[in-house]
Amino acid sequence: MKKILVIGGGSIGARHVRCFQKTERATVVLCETNDGLRQRIVDSYALPQSFESLDDALDEHFDGAVICTPAPLHVPMARRLVDRRIATLIEKPLSISVTGISELQAEVRAYQTPVSVAYVLRQHPALIEMKKAVDSEVFGRPVQIAYMGGQHFPFYRPAYREIYYTKHETGGGAIQDALTHVMNAAEWIVGPVTRLIADAEHCVLDGVDVEDTVHVITRHGVVLGAFCMNQHQPVNESRLTVMCERGAVRFEGHRHRWLTSSEPNGLWRVEQEFSLERDDLFVSQANGFLDQIADGAAPVCTLEESVQTLKVNLAALESVRTEKWVKI
Ligand SMILES: NC(=O)c1ccc[n+]([C@@H]2O[C@H](COP(=O)([O-])OP(=O)(O)OC[C@H]3O[C@@H](n4cnc5c(N)ncnc54)[C@H](O)[C@@H]3O)[C@@H](O)[C@H]2O)c1
Repeated sequence: MKKILVIGGGSIGARHVRCFQKTERATVVLCETNDGLRQRIVDSYALPQSFESLDDALDEHFDGAVICTPAPLHVPMARRLVDRRIATLIEKPLSISVTGISELQAEVRAYQTPVSVAYVLRQHPALIEMKKAVDSEVFGRPVQIAYMGGQHFPFYRPAYREIYYTKHETGGGAIQDALTHVMNAAEWIVGPVTRLIADAEHCVLDGVDVEDTVHVITRHGVVLGAFCMNQHQPVNESRLTVMCERGAVRFEGHRHRWLTSSEPNGLWRVEQEFSLERDDLFVSQANGFLDQIADGAAPVCTLEESVQTLKVNLAALESVRTEKWVKI
């Protein structure tokens, strides 16, 4: 059993506590500054130990830690953990600026500490299979990637007006909160974004003024991309399509399936459909992180890949402000 410290017991922190416990490979303890919340999670999940600050927690040693605080704290906390050789899983987005990033990268290299970033879509079996099809070039090289999706954020986070979501400086808005998952997945499949232009607006969500609707046109080297997302449409929808030279593949996140199409005037063919509970991807992510600690398995999303996606987030915000293309 590995001893895992979850830092931040909010919405995603509680899920990590539960999902690491579900692996049956970890003893989970919690660091949470809010006394009432900390006690509720300790009671709900029968945690053997908890801490009210990272300073207190770091008097002890842990095999691994999961950073589940708001984004501005991710890099400073990761640096403290890496400095103590504690394997670290960092929630997305990696940060809200590039401050401290090169120092963190240098420390990870110097201390050889396992680090991974929690872009959990990479755990999705349908997306993994779709990526294999793209990588195999069964339909030739990818030439275009297109995303269309959205969901009703207030339904999933009724407290959205009271959390990090309200401000860009705390990691909020559709670009840093939601689109970043899709951008990271797209970069994983067709390569890093090399330039982009973005448009975004606050259209619907009550009580906040960050963007809830966003369009981004991207270039990934020779591949052309377009991404269209909102956080207010009633129905859940998440379609990522990769057009290749002789056919197309599609990931449908809301249906946990992937499809192909290669006949002109033909139909989409369902390749595989999976039955998944919401925790499944997070349990799989927890197992991957535990493998990284135990056997040196490769991280599912490396620090370098998440730095690239951070640059995409920042470029999209800059492009919305300047109304210009931004090179990455
Ligand atoms: N991968 C996903 O699907 C997913 C989903 C939700 C959130 N997230 C990300 O996870 C992070 C947290 O999001 P959330 O929704 O859980 O936020 P939240 O506001 O619900 O929880 C954050 C918690 O961190 C605690 N905290 C703040 N400072 C602390 C400190 N110094 N020490 C210990 N605890 C501290 C707060 O008290 C709070 O309980 C964000 O970066 C968010 O983008 C990822």
